Amino acid sequence: MKINRRAQQRTVEIVSNKKVGAYHHMIFAVGDMALHALPGNFVAISVGGPGSAMVLRRAFAIYRTHDRGNYGGTLELVVAPHGQGSKWLTALPMHATVDMVGPLGTNFGIPTEPVNALLVGGGYGSAPLFGLAELLKDGGSRVDMVLGASSAGKIYAPLEGKRAVNSMTITTDDGSAGTKGQVVSVLPGLIERHNVDIIYSCGPMAMLAAIQDIAAQTGIIHQCAVEESMACGIGVCMTCVVPLRDEAGVIRMSRSCVDGPVMDGANVLWNSGGKIPAGTYGAPNV
Ligand SMILES: Cc1cc2nc3c(=O)[nH]c(=O)nc-3n(C[C@H](O)[C@H](O)[C@H](O)COP(=O)(O)OP(=O)(O)OC[C@H]3O[C@@H](n4cnc5c(N)ncnc54)[C@H](O)[C@@H]3O)c2cc1C
Ligand code: FES
Repeated sequence: MKINRRAQQRTVEIVSNKKVGAYHHMIFAVGDMALHALPGNFVAISVGGPGSAMVLRRAFAIYRTHDRGNYGGTLELVVAPHGQGSKWLTALPMHATVDMVGPLGTNFGIPTEPVNALLVGGGYGSAPLFGLAELLKDGGSRVDMVLGASSAGKIYAPLEGKRAVNSMTITTDDGSAGTKGQVVSVLPGLIERHNVDIIYSCGPMAMLAAIQDIAAQTGIIHQCAVEESMACGIGVCMTCVVPLRDEAGVIRMSRSCVDGPVMDGANVLWNSGGKIPAGTYGAPNV
């Protein structure tokens, strides 16, 4: 697959930067880039300013977009100040500009008929799920959401987002909010109660693998947005590869920045332990 054909590189202005719990909710004036972004797509932002040694762009899932208003098109991100790049980004004031490439990657598929959808997010993995929830609800689907994190402060669930879903379940590892434990512990009950047809997920790879196990046992379709580390974000460096089985059954190391981040969970070889699985196309026979 090739880079998202709607992608463009732009200097964009920060029009809002607010700290919300452990995250920064940032809004950028992006013009018509907002028109082309779909839930699941991400952007790659250059960090550190001119002359910085941080040459790798940082990838961020698109939280929401608006294609009109005072600033023309806007695009929203939820950023955790984690390492050098994200700390630099979240410290920028209003009206500062950044170099952004987007929208990138694949998007979540929206069913043509109303369905019962379960949306599952871990940490900042909740970001792309709210725009997805709005689209699904507009199409008449039932939308239940589960958000998990290590503790209460790391849950990103804004009020307007809660209104976009039929039910919201929170889990935390330390029990400081919602049910104590990980998101997967509440999934079987929710799947049964809401007669779930499809699971959409985004979060750490271990969480996605555990969700796929449940999806496989229950025969439910699972679309997931993987968070494999990315260096270029545009398909040239091969940093972000994951083993994926294609329709013909051939295993290929696929780039999650162009063949993903949204993938069919059933096609990912989750237990490869970061290695190239035996039989992968193009790999030497050892
Ligand atoms: C698809 C996707 C969506 C994401 N969405 C969000 C989001 O919505 N919100 C959020 O807060 N974060 C998100 N992230 C994580 C984000 O891209 C950064 O990894 C995170 O912010 C930490 O970056 P940093 O600069 O603060 O940390 P640092 O530790 O300074 O840098 C980590 C970044 O550099 C890259 N990197 C560093 N060294 C190497 C190397 N040797 N080879 C290859 N790559 C290297 C990593 O891939 C990573 O992106 C997402 C990541 C991906 C892949
Ligand atoms: S991040 Fe470079 S190929 Fe995907």
